[in-house]
Amino acid sequence: MPETFTATYLGHAPGRVNLIGEHTDYNGGMVLPAALSIGIEVSLSPRSDSMVAVTSNNYDAPAVRDLADDAVGEWSDPCVGALREANALGLLQGGASIDIRSTMPEGSGLSSSAALIVAILKAAREAGGGTQNDVELAVAARRVENHYMGVPCGIMDQMAVALATPGTAMALDTKSLDWTIASLPAGYAMLVVHSGLTRKLTDGRYGARKAECDAAKRYFGTEDLCLLDRAQVEGADLDDIPKRRALHCLTEHRRTVEAVDALEAGAMARFGELMNESHASMRDLFDMSLPEIDALVASAQELGALGARLTGGGFGGCIVVCVQAERREALLEQLLARHSGARFVDAVSAD
Ligand code: GLA
Repeated sequence: MPETFTATYLGHAPGRVNLIGEHTDYNGGMVLPAALSIGIEVSLSPRSDSMVAVTSNNYDAPAVRDLADDAVGEWSDPCVGALREANALGLLQGGASIDIRSTMPEGSGLSSSAALIVAILKAAREAGGGTQNDVELAVAARRVENHYMGVPCGIMDQMAVALATPGTAMALDTKSLDWTIASLPAGYAMLVVHSGLTRKLTDGRYGARKAECDAAKRYFGTEDLCLLDRAQVEGADLDDIPKRRALHCLTEHRRTVEAVDALEAGAMARFGELMNESHASMRDLFDMSLPEIDALVASAQELGALGARLTGGGFGGCIVVCVQAERREALLEQLLARHSGARFVDAVSAD
């Protein structure tokens, strides 16, 4: 029998919803994600062998893997990858038995995978008495996605779920990793509504957008599309697709900078307008929306939201709706009545 240590260590991470700043986090720009009340809790028992044994409330059968296994596109991949990273950081010397309790729907674009990896790394930090801070764990969690799972994501999700607490938003400069926590003003809610269409970052469309941004980066000789000048991009002799991707990034970055100021000033009408402009840019310049999602966003706007937009990587998942607290229930009821596939997931508010 392989030896299993009896000590158990806990780790937790919330899900996140991005309020504004999409596809800016690998283009040198700002993002503004907020932590959700739903999230993931793990209990981890280190093992002296290389086995990874995982149970989850979302799956009937346990997963039994080995630290040496490659990613195979299964739900336990983030666990294997996170434990490999924990070994590389010196927090563990072998595999682990892990039990996952999740209140998050998968495939919603709410960062269930980032939350799982960060929760495991936090538990491993406890187990190994590590001195890494939360930013270092977030950077390690991104390595798991990029290098082990083959997901070419940016740093937003890992930073948000490692550092933000429910009810607050994180204004993050993804170039410097400087961040501040901003509270939502009282009297407003950010509703997260699932479109009913699921998505996976591994399905290729996220990677395709990243490749198109890379083409624009090569043309302009910069890593930071978000910091380019609008006139310079509009006047460039560049193909239509990379040009529109760059235009989305640089305008989305500026909208996000303005949105952070609006949030801090409690100017939520302006914040909502910026969300609406962000959705139009994701739809028309970044081509990451779907007709059903455009219809859901348009309904929320018609029903009295201050602003509404697709959130996350795109091509499905959730929208986020900014609404005054007193209109929240009525808007949600009418929105779900109009769109039978949609469902309420969570809300972020100061109240
Ligand atoms: C996904 C990625 C993030 C970010 C968003 C789009 O959530 O994991 O890094 O790029 O898409 O803003």
